[in-house]
Formats: sequence, structure tokens, C-alpha cells
Amino acid sequence: MAKIGIFYGSTEGNTERVVGQIQEALGGEDVAALHNVNSSSAEEMEQYDYLMLACSTWDIGVLQEDWDTFVDELEDVDFEGKTVTYLGLGDADGYPDTFVDGPGLIHERIADSGAKFVGFWPTDGYDFEESKAIIDDKFLGLVIDEDNQADQTEERVATWVAQLKEEGFGA
Ligand SMILES: Cc1cc2nc3c(=O)[nH]c(=O)nc-3n(C[C@H](O)[C@H](O)[C@H](O)COP(=O)(O)O)c2cc1C
Repeated sequence: MAKIGIFYGSTEGNTERVVGQIQEALGGEDVAALHNVNSSSAEEMEQYDYLMLACSTWDIGVLQEDWDTFVDELEDVDFEGKTVTYLGLGDADGYPDTFVDGPGLIHERIADSGAKFVGFWPTDGYDFEESKAIIDDKFLGLVIDEDNQADQTEERVATWVAQLKEEGFGA
């Protein structure tokens, strides 16, 4: 079984496409398994030592709708001993005051769960005002802006996945 579980929600397919790229960069489906949260459970999440929680932000600072429904399930997951990272998709130009709030809204639920968090990502190169996805001046995980900076996605994914591997994510 894959060691990494990537749990994602995606309204228009952007996050779904990016998690596909990340899965490939991590080493394919034997290494990382994809789960759409519109049909996932806490039990499925429990099976993985390494979790990537991937979401977009909608409706001005609201968690993507499938994640918004699923997020209560996190209370039934024992995060002790698990390593967690985040992927957030957003639109810095259109929503600069709520840019990629989604991972921040998930993190509020599990910050004190006992999980170890890795994959923090610099905010340089993104033009926005505010985001709930920032901790100690860094994003909680990779941030992708398909609306304005799609040309940087491939390189960002490659750099971040290399960083995750260095941090022992999935090892
Ligand atoms: C009505 C609407 C509201 C949005 N609200 C936000 C927002 O508050 N913050 C943000 O960063 N992006 C926001 N976005 C941008 C989406 O998060 C972005 O397009 C993302 O790539 C969608 O990914 P998905 O197709 O995986 O859901 C919004 C987009 C729309 C159309």
C-alpha cells in the first residue's frame, strides 16, 4: 500500500490536476494514493502515516465545498505519529485578502492534534494582501495559483516535492 495519502477537494478540476502532477513527482500511485474527499472517510485517512491535504478556496475565504463537508471527519482521525502537509490553490489577483485561506481553515482543526507538519513554503513570488494559510511567515504548504501563475506550477511542484523528500515525507 502507498505510504502517502493525498486527500483533495476540487470544484473545477484545478486541484485535481495539480495533485496528479504531485503524485507523479512523488513516484506514482505505489508511493502516493489519491482520495477525493467527496467520497473519503476518516478510516481511509487513518491508514496513512503521511498525509497531504489539498484544497482550493471559494466564496471569498471559504473552504472548497467537498472539504467543507468533510472537515468534521478530521476529529475522528488519530494524528499522533502522522506527518501532514498541505497544498492550497487560489487566485491572488481576484481574492488578495483571502488568498488560499483553505489550508489555514483545515489547519485550525488539527494544529494541536499531535501531527508533525512539514513542507512549509516561502511567500515570495505571490502578490497578495492576506492569507490564513501563513504560519511563522511561511505558507503551510505548497501554494499554486492556476489563475495567474500557471506557468510556474510545474517548477513549483518539482521544487516542493524535492523539499518534501529531503524532509523525509513518505520515507
Ligand atoms: C466565486 C469564486 C470565489 C473564489 N474565492 C477565492 C478565495 O477566497 N481565495 C482564493 O485564493 N481563491 C479563490 N477563488 C479561486 C479558486 O480557488 C481557484 O480558481 C482554484 O484554482 C480553484 O480550484 P479547484 O478547481 O480545484 O476548486 C475563487 C474562485 C471563484 C470563482
